Amino acid sequence: MTITELRQKFLDFFQQQAHVILPSASLMPENDPTTLFTGSGMQPMLPYLLGETHPLGRRFADSQKCFRAKDIEEVGDNRHTTFFEMLGNWSLGDYFKEEQVAWMFTFLTNKEIGLGLDPARLYVTVFRGDESLNISRDAETVELWKKCFSSVGVQAKDVNFAERDGMADGRIFYYDVKKNWWSRSGVPANMPLGEPGGPDTEMFWDFGADRQLHERSEFRDRPCHVNCDCGRFVEIGNNVFMQYRKTSEGFDELVQRNVDFGGGLERMAAATQDDPDVFRTSAFLPVIAAMERISGKMYDGSAENTRSFRIIADHVRGATFIVGDPQNVLPSNVGQGYVVRRLLRRAIREARRLEVTRPFISELAQVVIEQFGDAYPELKAHEARIIEAFQKEEIKFASTLTEGLKKLQKMGHPTGEQAFILFSTYGFPLELTEEIVREQGTEIDRAVFQEEFKKHQALSRTSSAGTFKGGLADHSIETTRLHTATHLLHRALKTVLGEHVEQRGSNITPERLRFDFSHGQKMTPEEIQNVEEIINDVIRKDLPVHFEEMTVDEAKSHGVIGLFEDKYAQIGNKVKVYFVGDDAQGFFSKEICGGPHVMHTGELGLFKIQKEEAVSAGVRRIKATVTGI
Ligand code: ALA
Repeated sequence: MTITELRQKFLDFFQQQAHVILPSASLMPENDPTTLFTGSGMQPMLPYLLGETHPLGRRFADSQKCFRAKDIEEVGDNRHTTFFEMLGNWSLGDYFKEEQVAWMFTFLTNKEIGLGLDPARLYVTVFRGDESLNISRDAETVELWKKCFSSVGVQAKDVNFAERDGMADGRIFYYDVKKNWWSRSGVPANMPLGEPGGPDTEMFWDFGADRQLHERSEFRDRPCHVNCDCGRFVEIGNNVFMQYRKTSEGFDELVQRNVDFGGGLERMAAATQDDPDVFRTSAFLPVIAAMERISGKMYDGSAENTRSFRIIADHVRGATFIVGDPQNVLPSNVGQGYVVRRLLRRAIREARRLEVTRPFISELAQVVIEQFGDAYPELKAHEARIIEAFQKEEIKFASTLTEGLKKLQKMGHPTGEQAFILFSTYGFPLELTEEIVREQGTEIDRAVFQEEFKKHQALSRTSSAGTFKGGLADHSIETTRLHTATHLLHRALKTVLGEHVEQRGSNITPERLRFDFSHGQKMTPEEIQNVEEIINDVIRKDLPVHFEEMTVDEAKSHGVIGLFEDKYAQIGNKVKVYFVGDDAQGFFSKEICGGPHVMHTGELGLFKIQKEEAVSAGVRRIKATVTGI
């Protein structure tokens, strides 16, 4: 089954069950300042999972563009990708376990309205319960799965997973929080206060014992198992029963019980082909075929070539989707732009291993746009931008690479300091230096690199040399000023428009701040002027800025505003609160935040709102700048 057919089949299936089909949200989250990319289908649904009423109902399905930057270096095996499509269906306080398990079983196994997978090769895992959380084993879900399997005459014994026993003739396996609990931040202990999560039940496809590759299996010397990493079993979907919310004592029930299903489209397609290599699905075949033409080499020519083909196909596809997103991200040295740069540069470097030195990435991008343009029209709409950005980046990197590799060869085994010089002078990415050095069996001292990086930053700050940033967390003076300006804006908006104003998203580049907030109408010119005046008044007064650590309850009783779930603001069981002003005069603003901020508001210069516009129903966006001193 092609991925186009599979995607449509999934959406049709859930439309039949009265779900509203949503278009994919942006790949760059608009309401979540804690992460660069949308990495799961539930992220854009967050407010509704927490209880906000969705204007279109309680049942939704979609195919969400997802990107997991942390997987960049995993790419190369048969199933890891950075970009993927996550098929999703949601119940927002509507149906729960019974419907979800039955529908999933039907979708996976039914030949007419589903994928027609052989139920005898499906396995599932279920939460085994956890006394310390006071949440019990999910016996209900086990019974539901048993009913499904027995309806098609397949044995379904439930087994408590124990390492020494392997499969133990089981079909339904109980695991602990590490495997069968889902939240954006992982296991319960890592969840910030207020974060929603819950037990899940995952579905696995058995590609067959002869497919056992034992690549990096944690079960290498033990009997293979569904959660083993050997390549025999692949997770094809995860049903999260999102019904809890983290509190300081443990967990509370959310206001509603939700279902959050997510399944990797490419992996499901691999299961329908009964081939564990996702790069042999239609998601990648056209790009790989184009690369075969360009390189004159075959995808399965050798293990090294296969790896290079996979990296190139994944990275170019991912970069095409990022640059093709309406958010307008281009290759750069910061944030999401840096990830694009890294993807393209890694792809170019892999192509050199295939002896391709001529430009090729925009050709591959065209193949991606052609293939995905119907499902994601934004790719076609931004085709010219993608092609131009890729061509420029390729030209730029070609000279960087030639120069950098020459220098690297001269250095032999570069030190952290030298790696920094390669980075700052030649734009040679640290990760690339690290990879090359690793191949020679040595390591770059990251601490030394970081040290140099900080020195350089301080230097460019004092000389206001300006725009050098690097791909690490950006704590430059420009962004720090805008960070503080965002707090002033948040407070001033509440004063002018009303206390209903809540932060819905925030994004800062060295050039501007962007702040999304809940408010029903367009702001009037008077309101905009009013907000600017309040902020510029605070700047003129040169008020001090400081932070204190306190418990969430203390913060709430002090009338502190902001995102209580912001994980960068958590220190142990306390949170960091930034104050602008002083106690004697009354604080201008008190906001929960990880920082950093300026010491005095006078450092901001002049504050100016450049744009006020709608983002979605009830959410407005402001873009603003400060001039600095
Ligand atoms: N949100 C769940 C996941 O990403 C479905 O696995």
